[in-house]
Amino acid sequence: MNLIEIPAAKLNPKEFIKEKVKEISDTVGDGSAITALSGGVDSSVVTLLGHRALGDGLKAYFIDNGLMRQDEPEGVARIFRKFGIHVEILDAREAFFAALKGIHDPEEKREAITQTFYKTVFSPLFKNSGTRYLLQGTILTDVEETVAGVKRQHNVLQQLGIDPQQAFGYGVIEPLVQIRKDGVRKVAKALGLPESVYKRMPFPGPALAARVVGEASPERIALVRKATAIVERELQNVKAFQCMAILHEDRFAGMKEGKREFGMQIEVRCWKSVDARTATPAWLPPRLQEKLARRITTGIPGVVSVTYNITPKPPSTMEAV
Ligand code: XMP
Repeated sequence: MNLIEIPAAKLNPKEFIKEKVKEISDTVGDGSAITALSGGVDSSVVTLLGHRALGDGLKAYFIDNGLMRQDEPEGVARIFRKFGIHVEILDAREAFFAALKGIHDPEEKREAITQTFYKTVFSPLFKNSGTRYLLQGTILTDVEETVAGVKRQHNVLQQLGIDPQQAFGYGVIEPLVQIRKDGVRKVAKALGLPESVYKRMPFPGPALAARVVGEASPERIALVRKATAIVERELQNVKAFQCMAILHEDRFAGMKEGKREFGMQIEVRCWKSVDARTATPAWLPPRLQEKLARRITTGIPGVVSVTYNITPKPPSTMEAV
């Protein structure tokens, strides 16, 4: 599939919205569609486009996969209530942790998450509701990185030759597939989404599982969730494109309260970027680095080491896994 990019500088958000609303309503006709919100800007934009096109014919879900950040499901439901959209929270934590059990390889983890989303969780939703389409917020960068083999982004199917209708029993509509994150933000603002959404840092589809090196068990996810909350809070004034905490598998000799502790390590990343294609680390002031290390090692039992990634993308990627 040859996708023609619409660069953010050339994007007319009002025209784009009009066009996409028409496309969605032409495709779905008088049927209905499903959208899965994650709280990020891409799925938020797609949900509002779908709502404008289909009204109550759009059913919005938040899939609680157990891998999301603190207090995420309730926060998302609250924002969309203001737009007259009811978000149903679907508890799928068991299914995701069962699928991730014992998996260490990054691409296998991504595949397990893709299959759990599309097959285990969505397929029955479609079967039981008679709905034929899933609206999703895949953007151009997701497609490019997947096709180039850098990383299998969880939401790329058709561009890999997977026919969702055949594989899962429903069609997929991707209104944002010609634009990148900077373009999505322009559209989000034009749709009236709050600044907290359109300026929000990106968060990957595989969620915190992309930030745990090795097995994404409930315990390890809980630990990286705590570290993420600390990092996002402490770095909120840095104006980064994205910042994150990563849990490593290696153990390190440390000491807490005068005693040896063979503990865990958290890596902090904080990126400057425009569209996620390339990125450079933000050079954090030493005092802030010091504070981060203190907050993480004192706030999270078992963590004795905090590092900061100084590598640009490429050769690094932004997420660890
Ligand atoms: P990487 O790690 O590939 O990330 O440099 C580039 C941007 O994409 C986000 N990301 C994802 N987004 N599904 C998504 O929707 C995914 O599987 C995925 N993996 C990475 C990442 O957070 C960054 O903003």
